[in-house]
Amino acid sequence: MKRSKFVVLIIFLVGLNACSSISQQSVYAQMGGQQKIEQVVDNFINEIEFDPVIFEYFKDSDVDRFKEKFIEHLCNLTGGPCEYSGDTMVQVHTGMNMSEADFNRGVDLLINAMTKAQIPHTVQNKVLAILATKRNEMLYI
Ligand code: HEM
Repeated sequence: MKRSKFVVLIIFLVGLNACSSISQQSVYAQMGGQQKIEQVVDNFINEIEFDPVIFEYFKDSDVDRFKEKFIEHLCNLTGGPCEYSGDTMVQVHTGMNMSEADFNRGVDLLINAMTKAQIPHTVQNKVLAILATKRNEMLYI
């Protein structure tokens, strides 16, 4: 093999390896770790405050508790090094009788929060796929 072809092959293989090692990282790490998760949750709370429909659900909530538990939950679900110490999704959301439309609206706010934290869309999709598994624990209960 000519030397130039060999060099191209090596560059290709190194690149391929870098890609595969990124996808082997936890979604938590792909998001950018704890600091990014905290930024996303801060942005999410800000989004909630400016959305009259979703804010209605939170108007009597303890924001500091929500922030702490949501950070833990997101960290834990995405494979980060956190224990979740809050209540179950069923316990927390029971009595809200949350419609599918409002749930989707809440998820849109989370998407805005991730976009503002510069989380790449490919990684956002992985976060949303994880959260989608919890959907039935929150709707119409
Ligand atoms: C992606 C989906 C969601 C996840 C993973 C999620 C997760 C959580 C977590 C971890 C908490 C804190 C639990 C605790 O205090 O022990 C919480 C609280 C809460 N969630 Fe959700 N949530 C989601 C969607 C929503 C949506 C769409 C709404 C409203 C439309 C909502 C309304 C609330 C409210 C009002 C609280 C505070 C309850 C309280 O003050 O006691 N959640 N949620």
